[in-house]
Amino acid sequence: MSGTSLDAVDVVAVSFEPQLQLHAQASFELPEQIKEDVLTLCSSGDDEIEKLGHLDISLAKLFADCCLKLISQASGNLSVDDIVAIGLHGQTIRHRPNNWPKNNFSLQIGDANTVAEESGILTVADFRRRDIAAGGQGAPLVPAFHANVFHSAASNRVILNIGGMANITLLPADSQQPLLGFDTGPGNVLMDAWIHQHRGLAYDANGDWANSGKILPALLQQLLELPFFSQSIPKSTGREQFNLIWLEQALLNTNDNLCPEDVQRTLLELSAVTICNEIEKHQFSKAELYVCGGGAHNQLLIQRLQQLLPNAKAVTSTAALHLDPDWVEATAFAWLARQTLLGLCSNSATVTGARGERILGAIFQA
Ligand SMILES: Nc1ncnc2c1ncn2[C@@H]1O[C@H](COP(=O)(O)OP(=O)(O)OP(=O)(O)O)[C@@H](O)[C@H]1O
Ligand SMILES: [Mg+2]
Repeated sequence: MSGTSLDAVDVVAVSFEPQLQLHAQASFELPEQIKEDVLTLCSSGDDEIEKLGHLDISLAKLFADCCLKLISQASGNLSVDDIVAIGLHGQTIRHRPNNWPKNNFSLQIGDANTVAEESGILTVADFRRRDIAAGGQGAPLVPAFHANVFHSAASNRVILNIGGMANITLLPADSQQPLLGFDTGPGNVLMDAWIHQHRGLAYDANGDWANSGKILPALLQQLLELPFFSQSIPKSTGREQFNLIWLEQALLNTNDNLCPEDVQRTLLELSAVTICNEIEKHQFSKAELYVCGGGAHNQLLIQRLQQLLPNAKAVTSTAALHLDPDWVEATAFAWLARQTLLGLCSNSATVTGARGERILGAIFQA
C-alpha cells in the first residue's frame, strides 16, 4: 500500500484463516526521486507518457523489493513460498471519478507484471477500474473490508481512516441497513504540504505546530465553501482537489492576518470539522468511532474529533479492535486480493455507486 501522502510503502504479511492474523509488517520510505516523480505526474505537464512509463516500472521494482525485504526481515518465519499473493494497490497519480462530460477514470501505477516477475509471487492489482467501468467511483474500496472485520451487532460503528485524504465507513449494527463509506475531504494532505513549505518537515508530529496557532475563522469559512463538502454521496477525492494551489487561492481571498502556524491550525480544524459534519449528517454521532491511518497519531486532531462528537460512544483507534491503525489499509488490500482469488465480489455498490457488486482486480501469475 502506498497512499496519497507519499510517506511510505506499507507492507504486511497477513493470513485470514481461521481469523485475521498479522505475521509481519514494515514501512519503507519512498525514495525522494520517486516521490518527486509521482508528484509531477499528479498534475498535468509535459512528456507525461514517457514519465509515466518510466515511473510505472521504478515503482513496481520498489514495491517488489519492499515485499521481499519484509519477507527476509521476518527471517526464519516467512519465505516467498509462504505467500499466496501480493495485493497491490499501486500509486494513484490521477483520480477523476466525476469527470463529466468526459470519461471517469482512476489511475494507479506500479506495473503488476514487473512486481510478479521481480518478487516471484502471484500479484493481484488494478482493483479500482472494474468498479468505475460499472459506473462506480472506484473508491473507497476499504469499507467492505471494514464491514468484514469491524462490524458489531451490538452498536453502530464508524471506521475513520485519516491518510492523505480522510474516508469514513459507517457500519450499522443492523446489517440489513446499507453499508456506507466515502471520502470526507482532506486528512493530512494539506497539513503535510503547509508544514513542508514553511518548515521543511514531512508532517506535523502530534499536531504540535498546529497547537501553537489559532483558528482563522474567515479562512476556515472560505475553505468550507468548497462544493465537495456539501456534495451528496457517493463521493471520493484526491490531490486534484486538495492541494496548495487551492489553499493559496483561499488565502488570497481572506483578510486574516496570516501566521503560518494559524493556517496549520485552521487546516487541522478543516479536516476535523468536515469529518464530523459527515458523521452527524448520517446520524452516526452517537456511534463508536475507531480511527486508523497516520492521522491517528495526531493527538490534537483526535482531541478535536472527541470535542466535536461529544455524544460518541468512544473515540479511539482500531487498536481497540485488535488491528493496529498503521496497518489497516495495507491489510485491506491483502483482503481485496483474497476476494479476487476466491472469485468473490469486493466493492459495495452502496459505497461506490456502481451498478452492482463486482469481482475486482486482475491476476498476474508468479
Ligand atoms: N506522529 C504523527 N503525528 C501527526 N501526523 C502523523 C504522525 N504520523 C503520521 N502522521 C501523518 O500520517 C500520514 C501518513 O498516513 P497514511 O500512511 O495513513 O496515509 P496515506 O499514505 O495517504 O494512506 P491512504 O491513502 O491509504 O489513506 C503522514 O503523512 C502524516 O501526515
Ligand atoms: Mg502512507
